[in-house]
Amino acid sequence: MAAPSIELLEIPGTGLEPWIDALGGLRIRVFREFPYLYDGSLEYERDYLRIYQNKASSRIVLATLEGAGLIGATTCIPLAEEGPEFQAPFLEAGMDVSGILYFGESIVLPEWRGRGLGKEFFLRREAHARRLGLDTCAFCAVDRPADHPQRPAEYRPLDGFWSSLGYTRHPDLKAVFHWKETGEHAESPKSLTFWMKPCGA
Ligand SMILES: CC(C)(COP(=O)(O)OP(=O)(O)OC[C@H]1O[C@@H](n2cnc3c(N)ncnc32)[C@H](O)[C@@H]1OP(=O)(O)O)[C@@H](O)C(=O)NCCC(=O)NCCS
Repeated sequence: MAAPSIELLEIPGTGLEPWIDALGGLRIRVFREFPYLYDGSLEYERDYLRIYQNKASSRIVLATLEGAGLIGATTCIPLAEEGPEFQAPFLEAGMDVSGILYFGESIVLPEWRGRGLGKEFFLRREAHARRLGLDTCAFCAVDRPADHPQRPAEYRPLDGFWSSLGYTRHPDLKAVFHWKETGEHAESPKSLTFWMKPCGA
C-alpha cells in the first residue's frame, strides 16, 4: 500500500473562511492536552480566528491527508495587526512591534508527529516574515510548573526543539491570555512566555 501523502496548503487569512471550523476543531483537540489543557468551544475559536480571517497579511499553513482531513496547521500574523493583549508585553518593554511576525500556533495530531511537519511550519512562517520585510519572529508558550499534577509522565517539553531552530526564550516578555481549562467552570488567566529569533533576509 502506498504511504499516505500529506499535502500542505498555504493560504492568506482572507482565504481561511472555509477552514474555520476544521481549524478550530483541530485546535480544540490538540490544545486539550497538557500543557494547554484548553476546554475549547467552536464559538471561542471562531472569535479567536477572526483576526487572521480579516487580514491579507496573515498566513495559515494547513496539512491535510486524504480521507483524514486536517491533521496539522500553523498560523502567523504581523504583531502590529494583532490585538493589544499580544502587543502589550513588547510595548511595555519599549520594543517596536512593527518588525515582528507573531506565530499563533503550531499543531499536529499526535499520530502524525515526528515526521517534520512542525519544523516545516517554522520554515514557512519565517519565509513569510522575510516576504513581508519583517526581521523578527516571535511566539509564546504557556508556563507550567515541572510538577504540574496533569503533566503526563511521557511529556517531552518542546524547549529543545525551539532552541534547535534558533529561538531564544525571553523570561522578561510575558503575556496573559484567558481560556477555560479542563475542570474549570470559567475562563481564568494563564501566563505565557515569549520566544524570539531574528529572521530577516
Ligand atoms: C509542536 C508540534 C507541532 C511539533 O510537530 P512535529 O510534526 O512532531 O514536529 P517535527 O516532526 O518537525 O519534530 C520536531 C522535533 O521535535 C521532536 N519531537 C517530536 N515529537 C515530540 C514530542 N511529543 N515532544 C517533544 N518533542 C518532540 C522531534 O524529535 C523533532 O526533533 P528533531 O528535529 O531534533 O528530530 C507538535 O508536537 C504538537 O502539535 N504539539 C502540541 C501543540 C503544541 O504544544 N504546540 C506548540 C505551541 S503552539
